Amino acid sequence: MTSAPFKRAAVIGWPIAHSLSPVIHNHWMRVYGIEGEYEKIAVEPETLAAAIGNMKARGFSGFNITVPHKEAIIPYLDKLAPLARLMGAVNTVKFEEDGTTTGFNTDGIGLLANLEKSLPSWPKDRPALVMGAGGAARAAALGLLNENLPFLVITNRTREKAEAIARDIGRGRMVVVDWAERHDVAKTAGLIVNTTTLGMHGNPPLELDLSISARDTVVYDIVYQPLVTPLLDHAQACGLRTVTGLGMLVYQAAAAFKVWFDIMPEYDDELRDRLEAVFK
Ligand code: ATR
Repeated sequence: MTSAPFKRAAVIGWPIAHSLSPVIHNHWMRVYGIEGEYEKIAVEPETLAAAIGNMKARGFSGFNITVPHKEAIIPYLDKLAPLARLMGAVNTVKFEEDGTTTGFNTDGIGLLANLEKSLPSWPKDRPALVMGAGGAARAAALGLLNENLPFLVITNRTREKAEAIARDIGRGRMVVVDWAERHDVAKTAGLIVNTTTLGMHGNPPLELDLSISARDTVVYDIVYQPLVTPLLDHAQACGLRTVTGLGMLVYQAAAAFKVWFDIMPEYDDELRDRLEAVFK
């Protein structure tokens, strides 16, 4: 009997040292009996093309892409899956059997899967509020537009960037409000998602008045360093339900693992313990 070939995958970025993706994927490779390794590879912007060629030559199944290459990689790929095309950004590449490359974006899927698994009863009868207008906001908006919500409100310090998202993907179901108006929207939204970098270690907190939000409101912060951001802390103090960003990292990884290995892996307790230990 011939044994299955050694499988390889990686995450590329610059910097990459702190990526948790190897912990996640190497855990799943072991759990699902895939003999292989998931590496992290530091790739400077000027060496992106060479890095892709190298991974192809080494027989990689595919790779993940993080900052700052998610958009820059697109010209080097042969095909884009529909969500990646809509997002204008790629976080997962598959090397196909015929040697071509396909780009995917699993960030929006990851964001929604985390929410559904963590709090399946999140309110869908009221609008959702997305704060921020970077790539993560686009992913959040795309994911949430697939839900049957009345509409989606987006706000960003730089209003034009929010308007661009609403125009590109909103299908008439996205409303843009000024950054200063976010407190008012938070009073009636069912779901509030922070996709800005506010609240991340080293950044100021995201100020948001949640004191009169309905008790069933869910506050979701995609920042996961720290795991409980000042925004989530405030939400909990107001009696609201919260979702941390760590699960989004895991579920976007799960969708990438499925793309490469055709297995949808579980977020099991061992993986949860391992990841949470990183933040202790
Ligand atoms: P990503 O693509 O990962 O989402 P990004 O493009 O760097 O990241 O986006 C960062 C987000 O945080 C942006 O929405 C940014 O607002 P601007 O578009 O106005 O820059 C938001 N952000 C960062 N610092 C902020 C601050 N001090 N106050 C309000 N928003 C801030």
